[in-house]
Amino acid sequence: MLHKNRSTRLLALGGAFILMCRIYIVSAAYSIDLLTMPVFPGYSAMMGAYSSAGYLQRGPGTERLSFFMNIVDLRQTTVRQIESLLDEEAVHWREELHWDYRGALELIKRFLEAHALSGCVAYENGAAAGYAFYVLEEHKGLIGGLYASPRFDQGAIAKRMLEEMLFSMRAIPHVTRIEAQLMPFGGPVDKTLTDQGFHLYTRQFMLLDLHKPTEFRISATTGLRFSRWHDRYFDPCAKLIYLAYADHVDGDINDQYRSKAGALRFLKNIILLPGCGQFVPSASFVMHYPGSDDLVGAVLTSEVSPGVGHTTQVCVLPGHQGHGLGRALMLTAADALRGLKFQELTLTVTSKNLTAVHLYEQLGFKTLKTFTAGVWPR
Ligand SMILES: CC(C)(COP(=O)(O)OP(=O)(O)OC[C@H]1O[C@@H](n2cnc3c(N)ncnc32)[C@H](O)[C@@H]1OP(=O)(O)O)[C@@H](O)C(=O)NCCC(=O)NCCS
Repeated sequence: MLHKNRSTRLLALGGAFILMCRIYIVSAAYSIDLLTMPVFPGYSAMMGAYSSAGYLQRGPGTERLSFFMNIVDLRQTTVRQIESLLDEEAVHWREELHWDYRGALELIKRFLEAHALSGCVAYENGAAAGYAFYVLEEHKGLIGGLYASPRFDQGAIAKRMLEEMLFSMRAIPHVTRIEAQLMPFGGPVDKTLTDQGFHLYTRQFMLLDLHKPTEFRISATTGLRFSRWHDRYFDPCAKLIYLAYADHVDGDINDQYRSKAGALRFLKNIILLPGCGQFVPSASFVMHYPGSDDLVGAVLTSEVSPGVGHTTQVCVLPGHQGHGLGRALMLTAADALRGLKFQELTLTVTSKNLTAVHLYEQLGFKTLKTFTAGVWPR
């Protein structure tokens, strides 16, 4: 397990939960013994055998360049073969999302070296043009990442890689659900996901400049107390999350929210594993009545780049919502980050979650990017 090791810090996007958490997914894989990583008969043959010829339309003219796409099993690939793709991808993460992706890459490389990451690589005329991977978590397949380089025909490559992976994942008898959250710089995937029977949700990646003053003050919380995160809150916080996300769109996207056990797994991933950046306990708070460990609200924060925090969870118990507690939690976490000299705070939110989107916009968060979460079956 990789605990709190900055050099191998994993990155992920999480808001309401670890969404798009490609590296959370890697960390989830880490919780599986490498030897028990799923290997199914015929996979390599299937993945290795496919290739196709096609045409690229370049520029406004009629010039057509023929290309030859080859899809290869990721486990038959060396780090060197796709290193340029990994480096390229890291630049997108840093420049577009303010995330330091290097620790994540190191982890991906270790999996590649161990030939333990399921997925595929697309080669075009012999050059690595894209890669994608997935892991299995009990009944669920999680597409952990998909990157097609803009130096090639991103759309065609992303489509092929997704189709190949989905074909392979669906061939695994116990996989009854597949979740995918893919950043838009990896290549267009929405149409392929829809064609493959996925239900899509739009999500927003938002950023708050912590230097900008806020007009809001933390309001009185009528007898409630804020406490810094402590590990004794694992169980009560899992219960809070389970209750707060009952009948919530985010429970459709991530089925971990639908049970207390799932919510606990989620919490352990973001707090104990570096799956969603490095957890920052001094900027993570719970809200409760004095003398009670039953929680009314919680906000959890990680560091995803030097000076950049990420809200991995904020929620308020139903019945207490709509009274300013969510805002008070966000303001408290932001104040703590300012005290730690952080410059920015990011989060992700499902666009349909209007309450949360409104709250974040009110607090000064701006949307940097939108991306898609997909769930199969619909
Ligand atoms: C999102 C959540 C944390 C907000 O906490 P809250 O205590 O309910 O929100 P607040 O009372 O602090 O509201 C702050 C602002 O949010 C917006 N808001 C709150 N309730 C709202 C509602 N029912 N409809 C629309 N906007 C609402 C308002 O803009 C409000 O500002 P106002 O008081 O000036 O009108 C809470 O509703 C929750 O836990 N939801 C379920 C889990 C979740 O969605 N978490 C966020 C995932 S990204």
